[in-house]
Amino acid sequence: MATALSAPSIDSNVSKFVARKQKMLINGQWVEAASGKTFATYNPATGQVLANVAEGDLEDINRAVKAARASFETGPWSRISPADRGKLIWKLADLIEKHLEEFAQLESLDNGKPLKVARVADVPLTIEHFRYYAGWATKIEGNTIPLTLAKPLRFFAYTVREPVGVVGQIIPWNFPLLMAAWKLGPALAAGCTVVLKPAEQTPLSALRLGELIQEAGFPDGVVNIVPGFGETAGAALAAHSDVDKVAFTGSTEVGRLILQAAASNLKKVSLELGGKSPNVILQDADVDAAIEGAASAIFFNHGQCCCAGSRLYVERPIFDRVVEGMARHAEQIRVKPGFDPDSDMGPLVSEEQMNRVCGYLDSGLREGAKVVTGGARLGDQGYFVKPTVLVNTTDRMKVEREEIFGPVVAAIPFSDPEDVVLKANASVYGLAAGIWTSDIKKAHAIASKLRAGTVWINCYNVFDPALPFGGYKQSGWGREMGHEVLEQYTEVKSICTAL
Ligand code: NAI
Ligand code: MG
Repeated sequence: MATALSAPSIDSNVSKFVARKQKMLINGQWVEAASGKTFATYNPATGQVLANVAEGDLEDINRAVKAARASFETGPWSRISPADRGKLIWKLADLIEKHLEEFAQLESLDNGKPLKVARVADVPLTIEHFRYYAGWATKIEGNTIPLTLAKPLRFFAYTVREPVGVVGQIIPWNFPLLMAAWKLGPALAAGCTVVLKPAEQTPLSALRLGELIQEAGFPDGVVNIVPGFGETAGAALAAHSDVDKVAFTGSTEVGRLILQAAASNLKKVSLELGGKSPNVILQDADVDAAIEGAASAIFFNHGQCCCAGSRLYVERPIFDRVVEGMARHAEQIRVKPGFDPDSDMGPLVSEEQMNRVCGYLDSGLREGAKVVTGGARLGDQGYFVKPTVLVNTTDRMKVEREEIFGPVVAAIPFSDPEDVVLKANASVYGLAAGIWTSDIKKAHAIASKLRAGTVWINCYNVFDPALPFGGYKQSGWGREMGHEVLEQYTEVKSICTAL
């Protein structure tokens, strides 16, 4: 910590922020945990404590839900116009933009990602996400419905979309600020109130966001932020009987727990879960572009992406060339602390995550996979793992079946383009997929057969607030982004009047 925090480039607001004991935001007040407990968040580049944070639990979640309920039912938020909701969201985006460098630094320190990446990806995408949903606040409409069984002008029937109510949002650590934006943007546009629980590994940017939410002028209780652990604060939020909907991003395993907890009051559930996304390179592709795209598909954000292109299927005649190219890319990645201007890849988020990824590498080797490059931890300080390319894997090995969530790709040759679709779909997941080919007809034919929520053709990891994202199969329920996500945050009411 000492080295990172004494680096000359550290923003003075950031050093003050991390030095302060961080509280939680409930009903417009920054408060300690009811238990008085705190937990540490670590700098993954060093393994040292970065900041101490109030540790939310059942009682804090109860208070936060109560505030969100009151704000939803009777507070100023319940009477605000859609236009004013939109203006508040837009103002929040402007404030984040004003503090862009501060957020990029917090994100890099808490999560480990390169500062230069947070500056051009996480924070700008967050800003644009809020702006996109600021626009939606005034465009949530119903329909007028001609009844099929009645004579004309006997009834006047219409639908309205109303906010679903109090929403619990549980987010992961891979894009801490952006995941908060993905959740908050549509919820606020729809008129919901929120209890947000950031991941215990990366609570800082969400807490700083809470300060800007207040500065923007959102009424008290509209957004409550309760940091804490999953098994305590997260579980309490998912189970709470006065929460109308829970939105979760994280592991498939916890997604199942969320679903069980939600059964208590049958709250609405949306889930954005794991993946083991296939990325398919056909021999007629622009091979150099495909290699570059496939490398970024797996190595972006250190492979800690739910949509990481971790199963790389390559048509046999170009297999060796692609594997060599992938290895060359992997070896050129400079793995260094996120604050180092030369860093292309930082540490993984935590010791636990590093051990999980290294455990997969060990299991792959035991089962007969071959390491082309990487294959191990880097250094002994911080949680760095070498970008890794594996070959000789089979579909029985864990490294080819399970989500690793680290910089590890399995390159797999194929001979028959029909067969590769079956292989690509032979997964419990269905989040994303990539196809590289110069034959546009083939590309769309394969795209139509892939069981995945997003298919990228001759590109990968292209995200846009307008483009829905989410999973088939065990990759989740519902979609985020676009207008699709608004269905998750609204209820439809049919109103029928006799004339
Ligand atoms: P996780 O699913 O345990 O954590 C995600 C969020 O859920 C955190 O805010 C956590 O506090 C919360 N949580 C954990 N247990 C909970 C519970 N019982 N009730 C309510 N909330 C709970 O993920 P973790 O342990 O950090 O990572 C494990 C694996 O999950 C990763 O290796 C990766 O495969 C996957 N993952 C997928 C993500 C995605 O973007 N889809 C993001 C993070 C992890
Ligand atoms: Mg977990």
